[in-house]
Amino acid sequence: MNEQPVLLITGASSGIGKACFDYLFSKGYKVYGTSRKPGDQNPYLLKMDVNNKKSIDAAIRHLINKEGRIDVLINNAGISVVGAAELTSEENARLQMETNFWGAVQVTHAVLPHMRKKQTGKIINVSSLAGLFAIPFQGFYTASKHALEGYSEALRMELKAMNIHVSLIEPGDFKTEISQNRILSNEREDKDYKKGLAAAMEIIVKGERKGDKAIKVAKLCQKIIQSKRPKLRYRIGKPLDLSAAVLKKILPQRLFEWLIMGHYQLNKAKKI
Ligand SMILES: NC(=O)c1ccc[n+]([C@@H]2O[C@H](COP(=O)([O-])OP(=O)(O)OC[C@H]3O[C@@H](n4cnc5c(N)ncnc54)[C@H](OP(=O)(O)O)[C@@H]3O)[C@@H](O)[C@H]2O)c1
Repeated sequence: MNEQPVLLITGASSGIGKACFDYLFSKGYKVYGTSRKPGDQNPYLLKMDVNNKKSIDAAIRHLINKEGRIDVLINNAGISVVGAAELTSEENARLQMETNFWGAVQVTHAVLPHMRKKQTGKIINVSSLAGLFAIPFQGFYTASKHALEGYSEALRMELKAMNIHVSLIEPGDFKTEISQNRILSNEREDKDYKKGLAAAMEIIVKGERKGDKAIKVAKLCQKIIQSKRPKLRYRIGKPLDLSAAVLKKILPQRLFEWLIMGHYQLNKAKKI
């Protein structure tokens, strides 16, 4: 890439996406971000709902007309639906998958013809440690990130011959607006889940409140953008979060599950 690469970051209005937008912009990249409600203050923030193909196509068309190319796509837009899997409404479960998985897929497929034309590009999919192991009471979030991991792994091999590199970022807990934007999906109260959900929620929110700084993910994105041969997976977060990813690999499943349940205070959670 001789000129400054043109970057597109989905979900750049807050949290990790905004940190990436601001940081990479400050480093001189041509950065475009997206939001469902971009306002008219920032010409580099495009309107896009990743659940709406027409809105994706319109944003990509606008960007291609303006810059002629997209060198780096960062699929970051995402939401978090929390609740017992059984009691999560179908609507919210589908919204979770549509946004975190199908949203990234649809944006990727809209961008790929332009990258293939140039036979170069980088796609960075913001997954989660929940793409590697499950978080209780975040079953559909976990499913969306596991789906993103499998898709990215396959896509990477398919695109290698075209010099398009696919990578995954797997953050632990980060302090962003994800907690405030969270959807708690509880079709009905059920005593069998009440105590477990309350205990897990407390730990989930506490983890995010004490979470790492989003700027770290932005710096990691720059490292991936600059890398000639980016890796498939990049884990990022506090040591305790990262150690869980290591333990998942080496411990017997039963022991790993016991540790995760202990962390979310579920070993003690009995019905009320
Ligand atoms: N925070 C963490 O602890 C953590 C950990 C692991 C992974 N992650 C992942 O990091 C990514 C960013 O999350 P965050 O923590 O920065 O959350 P956040 O502060 O809530 O930001 C989410 C972003 O996604 C956008 N978004 C949501 N739904 C969208 C849709 N339908 N179409 C387009 N944009 C949409 C929002 O933009 P608008 O509302 O303006 O449209 C917003 O900019 C997510 O994929 C999340 O799963 C976060």
